[in-house]
Amino acid sequence: MSEDRYLTFALGKGRLANKTMDLFEKIGITCEEMKDKDSRKLIFVNEELKLKFFLAKGPDVPTYVEYGAADIGVVGKDTIMEENRRVYEVLDLKYGKCKMCVCGPESARELLQHHEMIRVASKYPNIAKDYFYNKKHQTVDIIKLNGSVELGPIVKLADVIVDIVETGSTLKENGLKVLEEICPLSARMIVNQVSMQMEPERIKKLINELRSHL
Ligand code: PRP
Repeated sequence: MSEDRYLTFALGKGRLANKTMDLFEKIGITCEEMKDKDSRKLIFVNEELKLKFFLAKGPDVPTYVEYGAADIGVVGKDTIMEENRRVYEVLDLKYGKCKMCVCGPESARELLQHHEMIRVASKYPNIAKDYFYNKKHQTVDIIKLNGSVELGPIVKLADVIVDIVETGSTLKENGLKVLEEICPLSARMIVNQVSMQMEPERIKKLINELRSHL
């Protein structure tokens, strides 16, 4: 396909989008408009390179990419696992590194040893379900929360949580610990399956250029 078509990127709003634009700048892809921190604009265009960027909520990025509203997305591996969309995961961008863990008070450690029925709070119910049901073969009651998940064990809503740990300070300041590690996480590039067939050269060139700067 000709290079006249816009290639559209969905980026997870916030720190991830900023880091992504820093990386893109290294391969000559810039978007001046996006640098205005006070702007509430959600979509940005680089006319010269025929690129569009839009800022979405992280969990929505795989949705935009699966449906082809964006050709390419950048989002955390946690979101890719949780959303389980039909997209190609093509590149580990190596930033946004953290771990998905089971966390709780030290006293909850033994509840993870004996296949007991326990309550697990998480922003990631699918990841929690997969880990406890398919990997640990432990039947658990999963409670979906939308943030500040560390509250779960403190207010006795749940025995443990499944959540992201980056520096560990949120856990430490709330008297909780990592009890089990589920998997490492980082930012990933995902691609719409049809876009990959339609524009393989343009997309593969981009992936190769980015890879050489990681
Ligand atoms: C994330 C995560 C932990 C915290 C981990 O929450 O859910 O709460 O960061 O980071 P740390 O190990 O460096 O302390 P986020 O800041 O996204 O807010 P939320 O709890 O409202 O989702």
